[in-house]
Amino acid sequence: MNINNTILIHGGKLVGEGVDGCVHTPPLFSCKIDKYMNNKYVSKLQFHNIYSFNELNASNLIKLKYKNYYNNHFSIILKQCTKNLDEITDMSLFDKETCSFFQNFEKYDDYKYKSDTLFSISIYKYIVGYPLKQFFDFNQTILLYENDTFKYFKQSIANFFYLQKSIYMINNINLVHNDLHYDNVVINTNNNNLPVIIDFGRSFEIDLKNENSYHNFFSYFNKFHFKPQRTWDSFDVRFIYYILKHKSFLPFYHNKSYNKIPNFLNKNYIDDFIDIIITYDFRYYQYISNNKFDFHKIIIMYKKFLQDFLYKFSDINLFPLIDDVVRNIYSNYIIYNIDSYSVIFNFLDFFLSNYHNLSKINNIYILNNIFIKYLFVNINPIIGYKFLYKNHFDFFKYVYKFFKSDQFYKNKNYLYFKKTMFEYFKNIKVDTRYFVENDILKSIYHYKINFISFFDSSSFYY
Ligand SMILES: Nc1ncnc2c1ncn2[C@@H]1O[C@H](COP(=O)(O)OP(=O)(O)OP(=O)(O)O)[C@@H](O)[C@H]1O
Ligand SMILES: [Mg+2]
Repeated sequence: MNINNTILIHGGKLVGEGVDGCVHTPPLFSCKIDKYMNNKYVSKLQFHNIYSFNELNASNLIKLKYKNYYNNHFSIILKQCTKNLDEITDMSLFDKETCSFFQNFEKYDDYKYKSDTLFSISIYKYIVGYPLKQFFDFNQTILLYENDTFKYFKQSIANFFYLQKSIYMINNINLVHNDLHYDNVVINTNNNNLPVIIDFGRSFEIDLKNENSYHNFFSYFNKFHFKPQRTWDSFDVRFIYYILKHKSFLPFYHNKSYNKIPNFLNKNYIDDFIDIIITYDFRYYQYISNNKFDFHKIIIMYKKFLQDFLYKFSDINLFPLIDDVVRNIYSNYIIYNIDSYSVIFNFLDFFLSNYHNLSKINNIYILNNIFIKYLFVNINPIIGYKFLYKNHFDFFKYVYKFFKSDQFYKNKNYLYFKKTMFEYFKNIKVDTRYFVENDILKSIYHYKINFISFFDSSSFYY
């Protein structure tokens, strides 16, 4: 089959490109279901591989649990079918005009002209909007907010809270998205500019009773270039990579013969890892914030929480084998950390890179400082030291209501505020230590007027 002469006859407009496929609306083909052939839907044509299986699996889990309630949170597969190269060529689904995947297709030696190469065609609802990446582009997006920095800042906080609810929904069914970078989140202009999570291609299910599920988790470590230096990956993933790569254990995990390697971790070895994290992460944060933010206390906190998180693994009585360490991280941390780390990292990236832009208005500057510190505290991998999911919004809402309450009006002082906050933290089992050490409660109290006016004028749709 000669794919050179193929022209696109279905008229789908390119709305996005991925690593191994392209997204069009209206769909190029809708697996023979006519109702999808209009501009309310998109098709993603890609190689039929593990990513399309992952997406299908995630889509089924989400649909099963959330019926139609997922719509404003996730873009999932509504219909999927597979076709081989000959079939998609016959149907003229090749978009060599606009899709660079197809332009480059002939260069893929492995697939070149192999008529049995399988493609997967998936149908999703079209989300009208633009990626979070663009939302985070200050100069471009501020125009959409009529140059009103305060409005833009409020929307970004609202989006953070909304995404926390979304990851709560997927983590609640033991699903990890595992690829929540800012191109996989779309701002839905038809739903109050709230974010929708797309692309479940790298998602996986955590099933503690299923050995295969544990084993599948390691397939990612073989495929992607994890490094402890990659600031955008969660600490636990970077640590697993660090210990498995150290003595080339990865192949053992790949072959499932991983259970006999003795635990070789000691504090020095763990300290080296922590040093790498701190050096690379803060080199990056310092760079994006143009050295305008003082990370001093945050770095001290990082060191402490990473030691708390990791030192315990050097106890060879508790963890005699390396697999005991890895399995403990997999069972107790991965579900809470991968997606929530990504979301926090993306927003830190935004608030720090725009530190200068956001500093121009005094009220925002203060709240931005508080929020940056708040995000850093919540990046802690240990669950008891941070807010998770919906608790982020609940905490801010609680503080807001408290500031407006009669009790507070009658008793306006920091000690009373602090005491109330400590009780709140105790009730929801969150440790106050790093919130206090980073002066978060103090700053919120100090700027209560701005805090109230911020929430007074914000809309939260959930
Ligand atoms: N439902 C949708 N509505 C609007 N735009 C979409 C939709 N799905 C995808 N897109 C656009 O297409 C781009 C690529 O889609 P997606 O992220 O699903 O593919 P991918 O990155 O190739 O996925 P994979 O990692 O599975 O290969 C997205 O970044 C987004 O801009
Ligand atoms: Mg993607």
